[in-house]
Amino acid sequence: MESALPFVAAKAVPGIDPAAYHDPEIFRAEEERVFRHAWIFAGFTDELARPNDYLTRRVGGLDVLVQNFDGELRGFRNVCTHRFAMIHRAPRGNGMLRCGYHGWTFDRDGVPYGIPGNEANFGLDREGRCGRALTPVAVGVCGRFVFLRVAAEGPDLGDWLGVYADVLRHASEIFVRPFDERSMEWAANWKMGVESVLEVYHADLTHPTTFRKLVKGDWRCDYDGAHSRGVTGVSDKSARWWDGVSERLGFRPSPILRDYDHLHIFPNLEIGFTRGAVMSVQTYDPLGPDRCALNLRLFLADPDGDSGKGGPAARRLIEEGARDLNVALLREDQEASELAFRGCRQTGRPALLGQNEERIQQFHAVWRGMMEV
Ligand code: FES
Ligand SMILES: [Fe+2]
Repeated sequence: MESALPFVAAKAVPGIDPAAYHDPEIFRAEEERVFRHAWIFAGFTDELARPNDYLTRRVGGLDVLVQNFDGELRGFRNVCTHRFAMIHRAPRGNGMLRCGYHGWTFDRDGVPYGIPGNEANFGLDREGRCGRALTPVAVGVCGRFVFLRVAAEGPDLGDWLGVYADVLRHASEIFVRPFDERSMEWAANWKMGVESVLEVYHADLTHPTTFRKLVKGDWRCDYDGAHSRGVTGVSDKSARWWDGVSERLGFRPSPILRDYDHLHIFPNLEIGFTRGAVMSVQTYDPLGPDRCALNLRLFLADPDGDSGKGGPAARRLIEEGARDLNVALLREDQEASELAFRGCRQTGRPALLGQNEERIQQFHAVWRGMMEV
């Protein structure tokens, strides 16, 4: 894999204005300038494998969808061009792109080809129907990772991801299906959630019995474009344990991601790898200035699943352990983030970011750049 760029961290720089975490005006500007212009992770190709499989998401305050049309993924705004109804309502499913209100049905170009009572009531010819096409949304795929971009113009996904595209492609070969998927609502701005995973400074006090036991605590960072990576060694005990599990259960762990490797794909996709055997995929999705949803998926490096060595019972035990640990440490992060969010509304003084918080320094620099502040 290509190596990412070095980054020289500054000592003790101020963070973004505290209002950036809670001000409704800034939140609306952020939806427009950040979320509608960045590539936003939407799901995995496995969820869109069959014709008519679809996913719906809310990106930058807009409802969007991605759907498989005979093997090709197409994205659209999820708003019917007849009278504004939401076309697909479930977060995921399988079905024609047909609006449930009056039944207009759309093709792969977003053009309504089926309009009940068209001749008698609308009289739309081909040109008229094209004039009622859905607004497209860009779709990009890297390995199994599917991204959407609302803005019509922008870099293609490969350029956007830079050197980290290789990591996503590599991870897509190792980690095939999630064994756990959950959503938790946090009473905090989404950036508080992201910032909680961009440093290990908080590990000693916030995660003394969870994350701290897992890692050595050294911290190496690199950067490319809007994104960053942080790496810390897995503790000897944890490394031995995961290597033993991988051996006994016939996992095929990554030969490259041997530490605790953490990737931040701007703005809100966070991917953590433990000893190449576990992958945690998180998004911190904004629900409002003061709320976000942490969506979590956990994977093991077991391409054979239940039919693998060791059998389903042993695998289940490992899954439960990994899930419980992740949920416990995310609760710890949630508590810390919610309290920090409460605090940021009581002050006009920005945070102070140390050298060991360099990835937050870079996150803020990218955010400021996109927000033009
Ligand atoms: S609003 Fe969609 S068919 Fe009428
Ligand atoms: Fe944490």
